[in-house]
Amino acid sequence: MSNMKVRQWQQTSLLCIILILLCFVFFILSCAREEKNIICFSVGGAPNEIDFWEKLVAQFELQSGIKVKILRQPTDTDQRRQGLVVPLRSKKKDPDVFLMDVAWIAQFAASGWLEPLDSYIKEDDLNLDVFFSKVVNLADKYNGELIALPVYVDGGLLYYRKDLLKKYGYDRPPQTWEELLDYSLKIQENERKSNPNFYGFVWQGAQYEGLICNFLEFAGSNRGGITITDNKIFLDTPENRQALQFMYDLIHKYKVSPSNTFTEMREEEVRIFFQQGNALFERNWPYAWALHQNKDSNVRNKVGIAPLPHFPSGRSVSTLGGWHIGISKYSNRKQQSFEFIKFVTSYDTQKKLAIELGWNPARKDVYEDKELLRKLPHFAYLRPVFENAQPRPNLPYYTQISEVMQQYINAALAGKLPVNTALQKAEKEAQKIIERYEKK
Ligand code: GLC
Repeated sequence: MSNMKVRQWQQTSLLCIILILLCFVFFILSCAREEKNIICFSVGGAPNEIDFWEKLVAQFELQSGIKVKILRQPTDTDQRRQGLVVPLRSKKKDPDVFLMDVAWIAQFAASGWLEPLDSYIKEDDLNLDVFFSKVVNLADKYNGELIALPVYVDGGLLYYRKDLLKKYGYDRPPQTWEELLDYSLKIQENERKSNPNFYGFVWQGAQYEGLICNFLEFAGSNRGGITITDNKIFLDTPENRQALQFMYDLIHKYKVSPSNTFTEMREEEVRIFFQQGNALFERNWPYAWALHQNKDSNVRNKVGIAPLPHFPSGRSVSTLGGWHIGISKYSNRKQQSFEFIKFVTSYDTQKKLAIELGWNPARKDVYEDKELLRKLPHFAYLRPVFENAQPRPNLPYYTQISEVMQQYINAALAGKLPVNTALQKAEKEAQKIIERYEKK
C-alpha cells in the first residue's frame, strides 16, 4: 500500500471512530435526558379513578413532554399510606410525586419526607388564594412551609333512594337519626318481600380509617368527638357512648345495617351494595355519585344527596376528608414533579375531576363554573358542607391514635366489648401515645 493510501485509510478510520463515539455520546445524553424526563406518580382509588388518571397523564405528557409512570395503589387509605411509607423510609427516589390523605400528611411532613413547595410556587407565581384556605392552612403547611397542595376535598354525605322515599310517602330525606331509623324499618320490611337482601342503611364499619370518619360523624352529630386539651384526650364521654351504642344498635338491635358492616364494609363494599339496589340509605364520600349515575348502575337517576342526620341535640356533621399532592424529598426530578402538580391543580383539570368523577375540587373558583353547575347542580349546595366539614386531629401521630380507636370501636360493633369499656380502653391507650410523643 502506498503511503498516501495508508494515510487515507487512517483518516477514514479516525472519522468512523469519531462518528461512532459521537453517536454513543448522543445516545447516552438522550437516554439521560429521557430518564430525567420520567416521573413516577403514585396514586390509588376505585378502578374508574385510575382510568381517569391514565387519561389525564396522557394529556400532561403531550402538553409538557414529561413522561409519567403511574404506580397503582389500592383504594384503602391505610394500605396506600403503607405503600408510600416503605419507599420513603428507605429514601428511595421513586415515587417522585404522590397523593396523600389529609389524615396522614402531618406524619409525612414531620418525618421530613416532603419537599417544601414555596420556592417553586414563588417562581411560578401560582396563586394560593384559589384554594380553600381552611384546607390549605390545616393540612398543607408544616413549620411555616407549604408541603403539599389540595387536589380534592371530601366530606361524608347521605345518599338516599328518591324513588323509594316517594313510593312510601316521605317527602324529604331524614334529618335526624331517629327519622332515618323509622324510614329504614318501614321501607326495609316492605322491600324485603321482593328483595330479601334489602337493608335500610349501609355505612363503613370495618376496622380501618373509614370507621373513624363514620364514628366522628355519629359522635359529632351528638356534640361528641375526639377532644384533646392540654395533651389530654377525651373519648369516653356520654355523647360518644350514646353515638357508638346507636351504631351498634343499627346492626344488632334494629338490624337495618347488614351484619357484615363491621367485618367488610369499606367505601367500595358500601358503594356497590347500594348501587346494586340493596339499600335505602348510604353514607359515602362524593366519589360515589358519578358511579351511581353510570349506565350499568341499578340506581341511576334514583339517588338524592343530603347532609347526614343528627341526634336531637346536635347538628349534621361531615368528616373532612380529601387528598393532597406532594413531592418526595428524595426525588431527583422535583421540578418536573412540580410541573405535574401545577397541571393537577389547574382549573381545567379540577373541573374535569368534578365532572367526570364527581370529586369536589379543592379550588373555590371551579364551583362558579357554569358548565359544571349545569351538569352537577348539587355542587352549589355541597360547597358549604365541605367548608364546614369537621377535621380529624392534625397530629403527626394521629394515625396511631386512629389505629387504637379503630380496634376498640370495631370490637364494640362486633359485640366483643361493651361500648363504655371499648371507649375507656381506647382513651387510655390513646393517652399513652400522646404522652410518648409529647414528652420528647
Ligand atoms: C376518603 C377520604 C379520606 C379518608 C378515607 C377513609 O378517602 O378522602 O380523607 O381518610 O376516605 O377511608
